[in-house]
Amino acid sequence: MFTDALARFPRLELVPAATPLEHLPRLSRHVGRDIWIKRDDLTPLALGGNKARKLEYLGADALAQGTDVLVTAGAIQSNHVRQTAALAARLGLGCLALLENPLGTSEDNYLSNGNRLLLDLFGCEIDTVANLDNADELLEVAAERLRSAGRKPYVVPIGGSNALGALGYVRAGLELAEQMNSVGDDFDAVLLASGSAGTHCGLALALEHARPGSRVVGVTVSRSETAQRPKVEGLLQRTAELLGVAVPTGLQVELWDEYFAPRYGEPNAGTQAAIRLLAEQEGVLLDPVYTGKAFAGLLDGIVHGAFPGRGPLLFLHTGGAPALFAYHSWTKY
Ligand SMILES: Cc1ncc(COP(=O)(O)O)c(C=O)c1O
Repeated sequence: MFTDALARFPRLELVPAATPLEHLPRLSRHVGRDIWIKRDDLTPLALGGNKARKLEYLGADALAQGTDVLVTAGAIQSNHVRQTAALAARLGLGCLALLENPLGTSEDNYLSNGNRLLLDLFGCEIDTVANLDNADELLEVAAERLRSAGRKPYVVPIGGSNALGALGYVRAGLELAEQMNSVGDDFDAVLLASGSAGTHCGLALALEHARPGSRVVGVTVSRSETAQRPKVEGLLQRTAELLGVAVPTGLQVELWDEYFAPRYGEPNAGTQAAIRLLAEQEGVLLDPVYTGKAFAGLLDGIVHGAFPGRGPLLFLHTGGAPALFAYHSWTKY
């Protein structure tokens, strides 16, 4: 039913094939628990990551509306802005990005390396803003300025996380459910980073539909559970409405908020240890802002008995490794 509902929405084929679901044998032995990883860090758009899936739907909508410039916003090291700027280049559109410096740092690597360096390669125009507390308003002001200059802007919200963007993760969730079925094991939980929440909502919606009773844990990267829950639940509702389906009654939103301190964009000791461990054990790169924090949650959950069953755990790798270069001198791995 979800598949038919999704098929009504035009989609650019940025992720034409299923991303791999891989077992991590060395890490599993090391931590005493079977761990699998869904490699959405390998989506084929500008060094990969979760935004490619949201942009399949948002980009198709932008083209249908006859746009000539994508307008979006994020942190200087935003992966979302990197993939949006790459898509604009690929489609022959302009791109304007409103960028904030959430750490208030003047550290040169943060300001010019990693994702930020790539924005210049994609020819993205940058507007520096003091903060993105009112991002939707700022985006609308920027779009209006472009309209009065005769352009046709399309606003891609922060993180690509509106209902249309979240459809990318409904699709990913259906893809993942099939992969989990073919592995055959009874997975105890799926863990992922929960930020602007489109990834979390889409995946949770599709998994509960395709594998009822699936446990999905969103590890927050920027806010407390109290602040994140209404974001996730609101977007879940809007995504289900857009699809024309009901939110499955068994869907539980589970959020862990112990791993994002001291704040968004700043790694902690657990983040750095998680990045190092996965790199050393499996040669897989996490990132300092999202997946390093979410994976630290998974590792800590194992230690603290948060997964009472004996089944394997599944981590959704949403990308972000280009930011490692920007954080090189900021943190010591
Ligand atoms: C690498 C990475 N992982 C996870 C996320 C969080 O995804 P979402 O914003 O859909 O919650 C982001 C968002 O920018 C990201 O860049």
